[in-house]
Amino acid sequence: MPMQTMRARGSQGEWRTSSWRQLPAAQQPDWPDAEALKEAEATLAALPPLVIASEARRLTSALAAVSRGEAFLLQAGDCAESFREFSADAIRDKLKVILQMAVTLTYAAGVPVVKVGRIAGQFAKPRTSPVERVGGIELEAFRGHMVNDEAFDSSARRPDPGRLVAAYHQAAATLNLLRAFTKGGFADLSHVHGWNQEFVASSAEGRRYEQIASEIDRALRFMAACGIDLVAEEGLHATDFWTSHEALILHYEEALTRRDSLTGDWVDTSGHFLWVGERTRQIDGAHVEFVSGVINPVGVKLGPSVTPDEVLALCARLDPERTPGRLTLITRVGMHGVADALPPLIDAVREAGHPVVWACDPMHGNTFTSENGRKTRRFEDIVSELREWFRVHRSMGSWPGGVHVELTGDDVTECLGGAEAIVEDDLDQRYTTMCDPRLNARQSLDLAFDVAELLRS
Ligand code: TRP
Ligand code: MN
Repeated sequence: MPMQTMRARGSQGEWRTSSWRQLPAAQQPDWPDAEALKEAEATLAALPPLVIASEARRLTSALAAVSRGEAFLLQAGDCAESFREFSADAIRDKLKVILQMAVTLTYAAGVPVVKVGRIAGQFAKPRTSPVERVGGIELEAFRGHMVNDEAFDSSARRPDPGRLVAAYHQAAATLNLLRAFTKGGFADLSHVHGWNQEFVASSAEGRRYEQIASEIDRALRFMAACGIDLVAEEGLHATDFWTSHEALILHYEEALTRRDSLTGDWVDTSGHFLWVGERTRQIDGAHVEFVSGVINPVGVKLGPSVTPDEVLALCARLDPERTPGRLTLITRVGMHGVADALPPLIDAVREAGHPVVWACDPMHGNTFTSENGRKTRRFEDIVSELREWFRVHRSMGSWPGGVHVELTGDDVTECLGGAEAIVEDDLDQRYTTMCDPRLNARQSLDLAFDVAELLRS
């Protein structure tokens, strides 16, 4: 029997793809039709993997470079992907803004960037309350298109296991296009200008980006003039773009978890990188149990109430071998929480010898409801949390390894502020998110300039 399955796992005994079922699983829908759920699981289990073990290992080694301070992680994408807003254009535009951010960070900060999308699987949402009440009517909460629909009527809210299979197919189609774009020429560095969308290019951030793009052109011409064969340099023409999502609905993750025939390792083939959310990271819970047994690089979101002991327990459980790149700790403590919350965590993890990647999610701790009832975030608060987070890491000699942000390639008005100064009255104009407010393409680029500066200083 391969080593991986023999590892003892606390009081739960041996890990299996289904061992999470013996533990309390937070945030799972109450699937009304058990037969239909079984059928969906069987269907998924028979479908081809979306990603393979060697890719998960390559991402782990890319993240190992981040953990050593030699690279930076950019994890970005939708709060929740939608079954309805699903088109080649939307995927392309999201990729464009992430490539723009990545190339800005690479060029302006001189650091290699590991690019991870919240994409091709980000279909499920944890909820504060399991029900939603409007007027006198109470319905099940919307849990993302992998589970139900956001329309406020009882049939739409009924969890439908067929959606697990639909999510797989949408993830497959999305990943296919991403692979084509990033390996087939679209992400070629000679196309840096082409990633600047029209509505972005006309803004101050867009012009600043154009300047960087022109400098990259110039650097490439310089290298060619020096006799370097640019055509032969594969790294200039393609990029690695990895997928990630919150491993929330464990029936989906289990059904897509397969054994690598070469090594016997278990890999969750639903995406390259998986994270466990702030609401599901209980040390004795099902989600931590599940991700503890797969070889994918994994992340854990850490909110303001987190303690060093909890983080140490998570490290021991999820990174027992102290493998560089295996574990990413994503703090989302809010701009006022960083100074107090972060230092003891960094100290504890360093002391215990876990070579983690530290990433900052500056979005989820800075959410509030505007006067007109919209869930929103201020661009300035997002930057504040990042600035504090960089400051603390710098002061402790720790590498600020990455950022985790929610964005879209569209011209939405969901977050306040930024160079174009979206104000509360603007929020209604183009507020299209199904869940949390996302940075639009201009705000995302603006953020990348700020992060590049923080990385440089
Ligand atoms: N392959 C390198 C990298 O991924 C350079 C590169 C090619 C790149 N296309 C890119 C960098 C697009 C950022 C964005 O880093
Ligand atoms: Mn979110």
